[in-house]
Amino acid sequence: MTNNHPALAIDPYYDGVPAYMTEVYDWAYVDPTWVRALDRNWVVRVLLFLNDQRLMRSYLNEIEPGMRVWQLAHVYGDLVTRAARKVGPSGVFHLTDVTPIQIEHGTRKLAGMEWTKVIRTDAAAFNHAEFVDYDLICSFFLLHEVPEEKKYEIVDHMLDKLPKGSKAVFVDYHNPARWQPIRYILKLVNHYLEPFADALWKNEIQHYARDASKFAWRKKTFFGGVYQCVVVEHKN
Ligand SMILES: C[S@@+](CC[C@H](N)C(=O)[O-])C[C@H]1O[C@@H](n2cnc3c(N)ncnc32)[C@H](O)[C@@H]1O
Repeated sequence: MTNNHPALAIDPYYDGVPAYMTEVYDWAYVDPTWVRALDRNWVVRVLLFLNDQRLMRSYLNEIEPGMRVWQLAHVYGDLVTRAARKVGPSGVFHLTDVTPIQIEHGTRKLAGMEWTKVIRTDAAAFNHAEFVDYDLICSFFLLHEVPEEKKYEIVDHMLDKLPKGSKAVFVDYHNPARWQPIRYILKLVNHYLEPFADALWKNEIQHYARDASKFAWRKKTFFGGVYQCVVVEHKN
């Protein structure tokens, strides 16, 4: 998809950013002024209806000191720093993101932690010299933001790169129960702001995996089904 955003010709913050990012999420993730305003814990807390801590814990609890961890995309607030600290100096923490301003923020947050690296790449194509055999690969609220074909690419790439004995963790939206009032708020949000999110209401994450049957899928839902954490491992 060609990116025809008018800022592209003159602004390095837009250089190489996928079209869906500038067309749908410009103010949320690409425009540096907005990103500086939004990159705060309270923003994440409000966006996740106060479920931020338990959703982050569902990822952080899977990390053990010394692990090699790849987090696919930057997240606002202190999640990246907490994950890197938990990995600690005997491990490896790699953060990737496709958007220059997000790389800037991630780099600032991880400054001074020599076991970390921030790498600009599309998560579906991360295959650089830095790539190692990860113990844990995490997609935290990335899948609902990307177009359908990119969901397949990202899930397949994560699982293709997952060594035996390692875990992939997906934390993301899910199909909320009908009694959950937030369901109806999110319907509107998805309609106006998140055009690729409804797909996770219809499809399990394993739907996006080419070889789903080769893996064990463990799903836990939160907040009346609004959110899910799925942990994936190779079957023996
Ligand atoms: C993880 S998601 C949303 C997380 C959450 N809503 C938050 O509070 O930040 C947002 C990030 O995904 C990044 N992103 C989008 N598409 C990507 C891709 N294909 N590969 C890597 N990063 C991507 C964006 O640049 C942005 O930093």
